[in-house]
Amino acid sequence: RNQIFIGTFIHSKKLDELEYLHDTAICVDKTGKIIAIEPQCDQKKAEMSLYPTLGWSAADVAVTIAKDGQFFFPGFIDTHVHAPQYPNVGVFGKSTLLDWLNTYTFPMEASLSDLSKARKVYTRCIRRTLAHGTTTAAYYATIHVPATNLLADLCLSMGQRAFVGRVCMDRMGPDYYLDETADEALAASRASIEHIRGIDPGFALVSPILTPRFAPACSEGALAGLGRLQRETGLPVQTHISENRSEVGLVRELFPRSRHYAAVYDEHGLLGPRTILAHAVHLGDDEADLIAARGAKVAHCPCSNSALTSGEARVRWLLDKGIAVGLGTDMSGGYSPSVLEAARLATLVSNHLAMGGERRGGEDASAPGEGERAKLSFEEVLYLATRGGAEVVGLQDRIGGFRVGMEWDAQLVSLGALGDDVAEDDMQDYGNMDVFGWENWDERVAKWVYTGDDRNTTMVWVRGRLVHERK
Ligand code: GUN
Ligand code: ZN
Repeated sequence: RNQIFIGTFIHSKKLDELEYLHDTAICVDKTGKIIAIEPQCDQKKAEMSLYPTLGWSAADVAVTIAKDGQFFFPGFIDTHVHAPQYPNVGVFGKSTLLDWLNTYTFPMEASLSDLSKARKVYTRCIRRTLAHGTTTAAYYATIHVPATNLLADLCLSMGQRAFVGRVCMDRMGPDYYLDETADEALAASRASIEHIRGIDPGFALVSPILTPRFAPACSEGALAGLGRLQRETGLPVQTHISENRSEVGLVRELFPRSRHYAAVYDEHGLLGPRTILAHAVHLGDDEADLIAARGAKVAHCPCSNSALTSGEARVRWLLDKGIAVGLGTDMSGGYSPSVLEAARLATLVSNHLAMGGERRGGEDASAPGEGERAKLSFEEVLYLATRGGAEVVGLQDRIGGFRVGMEWDAQLVSLGALGDDVAEDDMQDYGNMDVFGWENWDERVAKWVYTGDDRNTTMVWVRGRLVHERK
């Protein structure tokens, strides 16, 4: 069916500016594409003047209206998330990356060789992330081809836009969870790519993505093979970089001839404009320059970087270098499946960076802060969650905002009824916030960022299809 959406639409105009489209109508055709955006338009006017120009008849149009206290916002893009780690959300103790992998992560991922378990975990992961407004996810699966393929099948059937990567790791993992050789790793990755090509030939919704876990877990042969596969297929690549100091030290030991971590990927043909690098916490200056020169992108994961005491990624510094940055939950390094949570934590982490040593007070105030400029505003992190993320996954022409020709990946956000005529006892469960009605739109959106959650995400669409509705 054709669809029309009417009311207030909010999206990012540029990094630090939101655009508010009030009393607007957006028409979405049967394929999920936005074909008209009409200001000053209500349902009656749409029927009279808009439908005839589109060749629509009112009987064949589904209408969704954002009422007072509601607005449409682009769906969130999670540029870095591990679907098989979903059962471990919130469970990480006081570990840091390398012991966390061995203690929590590898055992859980290995257990998803059981397809019935994989189905349960992946179904819930997709349902949960959709409920949080994640319309696109860049997923790491596991090393298992059948379970990886199942994740792609479920994304397609449940309607979540996704990049699904079979994890490549032929060293450093435990015996029970490892690709046996580089050749076997490459063959398995090819098998999964073929499967996904088969279920979604045009990559309309689900695309494969090459996924070397990270340099320490891949032999030179595996990295080089994946680099060749990238050149051959043009597929995107996702991996981790410079998340934790011990990990960076390990890379220096394992790749003594490489200048730095980014050079390892570059030397194997894995650092290009379609590469998504997660974390990027401890990069050197020329390393970041190389990433910028190659056009590679960064997934900023503030929840994970805080939970695993990895560090504070310098997002402003990356942006200043012209590197595209999106947000990642890095579930379950991050404890939350919510991109909104990642967004608000991105602002807090940026505040800590701005403070530097001052935050410790007293005589230990030695480390200089990055200063006020490091701070990210709520407008900026919403950009990272939508348009920034779209650029990171290479879909900036299709998703991340409301423009004619783009696809309808959106969420209806409800802040609660506004206005004087709302009875006190007419309050529904809109979560953690009270909205009184006198707030301006900037203040309302700020409240959403800082106090909102999935209770505010009322409806979610991907390519025009309703994929979640909060009852
Ligand atoms: N580095 C290698 N594997 C992982 C992982 O699963 N999560 C995170 N956060 N970092 C990694
Ligand atoms: Zn990760």
